[in-house]
Amino acid sequence: MYLQRRNRITRRSAAVRALVAETVLTPNDFMVPLFIGEGENIKTEIASMPGYYRNSLDITIKEVKDLWSMGLKAVLLFVKADDQLKDNTGKEAWNPDGLMQRAIKEIKNAVPEMLVMTDVALDPYSQYGHDGIVEVDKGTILNDETVEALTLMSLSHAAAGADFIAPSDMMDGRIGAFRKALEESGFSDVGIMSYSAKYASCFYGPFRDALDSAPGFGDKKTYQMNYANRIEAINETLQDVTQGADIVMVKPAMAYLDIIREIKNAVTVPVSAYHVSGEYAMIKAAAARGWLDEEKAILESLTSIRRAGADLIATYFAKDAVKILSGL
Ligand code: PBG
Repeated sequence: MYLQRRNRITRRSAAVRALVAETVLTPNDFMVPLFIGEGENIKTEIASMPGYYRNSLDITIKEVKDLWSMGLKAVLLFVKADDQLKDNTGKEAWNPDGLMQRAIKEIKNAVPEMLVMTDVALDPYSQYGHDGIVEVDKGTILNDETVEALTLMSLSHAAAGADFIAPSDMMDGRIGAFRKALEESGFSDVGIMSYSAKYASCFYGPFRDALDSAPGFGDKKTYQMNYANRIEAINETLQDVTQGADIVMVKPAMAYLDIIREIKNAVTVPVSAYHVSGEYAMIKAAAARGWLDEEKAILESLTSIRRAGADLIATYFAKDAVKILSGL
């Protein structure tokens, strides 16, 4: 007699479901983005990211200690530069006493084991809100000049003590340029997490509120990727690996799970995904209206990103996820 295969047997109880789960989330899977502003004892909620803040450095240090005590092991730093520091060269980006450089030093001082990863792109420092230097009469972004500026920026982060630089600018040839410069300057221990497949996405909107960095003209489509493309993502990522990227990234995450899987299958370095600000905002907005269960939406989203192939996830929900997972 043919015995029907009973698939429901391995779903009968929470115990058996846990036993056969293919994907598990742990605090080791997360990188925590931190928005940092000038001043003291200043905590500003981001209007489009309820429950997420831009903090002055003193509060950031407390936050980093808290994150470490929860088992979180990596922070991804973003700073909001004051308006008068913005220009079209981005030179504040490599000021050794700039907010980013001070933040790296103070965090490494306070919690030496915390992995400090730093955003490398000119947008917070650009008067035009672009990731690179603008050729003003044409309204285009200069590639090689930008890579030179970003190389200085990367070296200044390394000198301040960053563990990984994380270029999010999408200029061509930057990974190789940074790797070479790091080697030549004695920073051979500093890693590169490359935003390899970064798409021109509307889901970055709330982030640009957090840093006041929305592009002043046009959009970022001449450097960030077209979301219609999949094969191009593989090409970009393989080039970054060849040029020396230690970790690659797909960004955003949830509308790009197919890309995460493609990249995971194509490379042998760790793959990260950035669950971006707009993805955070969507869950928060729906939960605030009682339309979604926030905790369940967080776990399902992050698990899906891991299942798609991300080894690690940058997410504004890192703390929430750790709390939910540990039943706090
Ligand atoms: C800037 C940068 C952006 C993000 C990370 N680095 C925004 C952009 O490219 O415009 C987005 C992060 C998020 O939305 O959470 N280079």
